[in-house]
Amino acid sequence: MARYTVVTMPGDGIGKVVTPEAVRVLQKVGFDAEYVHADIGWDCWVNEGNALPERTVELLATHKLGLFGAITSKPKKASEEELSPALKGKGLTYFSPIVGMRQKFNLDVCVRPCIAFPGNPLNFIRKTVDGGFEEPKVDSVVFRQNTEGLYAGVEWSDPPQAVREALASHKKFKPFADVPGKDLAIAVRCITRHASQRIVRAAFEYAKKHGYTKVTVCEKPNVLRETSGMIEEEAKVIAADFPGIRLDLTNIDAQMMWLTKNPEDYQVVVASNLFGDIASDAFAGLVGGLGFACSANIGDEVAVFEPTHGSAPKYAELDPPIINPIAMILSGAMLLDHVGETEKAKRVREAVGAVVAEGKVRTYDMLRLSGSANPIAKGAASTTQLTDAILAHL
Ligand code: NAI
Ligand code: MG
Repeated sequence: MARYTVVTMPGDGIGKVVTPEAVRVLQKVGFDAEYVHADIGWDCWVNEGNALPERTVELLATHKLGLFGAITSKPKKASEEELSPALKGKGLTYFSPIVGMRQKFNLDVCVRPCIAFPGNPLNFIRKTVDGGFEEPKVDSVVFRQNTEGLYAGVEWSDPPQAVREALASHKKFKPFADVPGKDLAIAVRCITRHASQRIVRAAFEYAKKHGYTKVTVCEKPNVLRETSGMIEEEAKVIAADFPGIRLDLTNIDAQMMWLTKNPEDYQVVVASNLFGDIASDAFAGLVGGLGFACSANIGDEVAVFEPTHGSAPKYAELDPPIINPIAMILSGAMLLDHVGETEKAKRVREAVGAVVAEGKVRTYDMLRLSGSANPIAKGAASTTQLTDAILAHL
């Protein structure tokens, strides 16, 4: 029997393409695991009225390790229209299975490394004062609180009377008090001290373990005084436990600007859910974008690893597939790190790095080609060819 069982959840679109590629790499590197398939995503919603079926939840609860591809989601109206006839009109509402998974297993720590591979033509460069160009070394890891904040799902359009009354007790609600229900939508930003402590501590622990000297909290406490304020307050307390590591505080808006001016100044970055989502996409853009952006969702018991990209439906059916499998493969490497197989994780990253640096086998995104204009005919590698090149280095 294998030492580990990994629950594979390919999901929709290109999730189905990249998930088996990561498995091929994990097998090649000698990871002692077996893989069980679990359903998730759009078909489950359409046919079962639930994008995250209970049987998938049970598999994750049993095996604790998940490798997730991507899902397709659609706006409210379209979701309800596509439900199978037997399920229509039953009051079912679509809920994101990723958010569901994060909440069910309290996968509250999301880790998104944004580390440039030397030789990647997609790496960020900037002008030097003498008119030349330079490539700042981007080596940042974003820690995003994964379960709370504006993504907790506490939202209404046409809020119920009790909610309106409660909000009316806050003096800042006055300008909204007379807005008719049908014209009013409200989201609540719930932040807890406990979850703030967990994400900040996880960021500091990571910095310590990997030799980073700075943790930057990226919030907006000058405006979001209570919620961002609480996160910063906790960060200051926790920082005291990590003497060699400096705590920096930035605002999300300013951070987005500094990102392209001096990205080399950021190491471990920590933020609440929405700001972490934004910051991690922005950092990922400096190191190759969606084709390179990997992530881990980590709870006390269960951990799920996934590329940041979505299901890219327009590329889902192409034969051969053309999308970049590296984000998914690097997510597999994060899984290896998580279970303590750090040597194998390192080998995977080195193999990816070698293929990127060689530059002989590149998917369309790395050649800056359009995905829709037959990039293979223009010299782009297919998804499987890129994985094969990585396997060859292993
Ligand atoms: P997307 O990430 O699926 O694709 C956006 C574009 O990025 C693609 O058209 C493609 O040009 C490029 N791209 C994405 N992954 C790539 C890869 N591995 N290699 C090369 N190029 C790649 O985002 P989009 O189009 O906004 O959403 C499509 C669907 O995916 C939607 O239904 C959305 O809800 C869902 N989605 C799911 C996510 C998840 O499962 N974690 C995350 C983001 C979106
Ligand atoms: Mg995102």
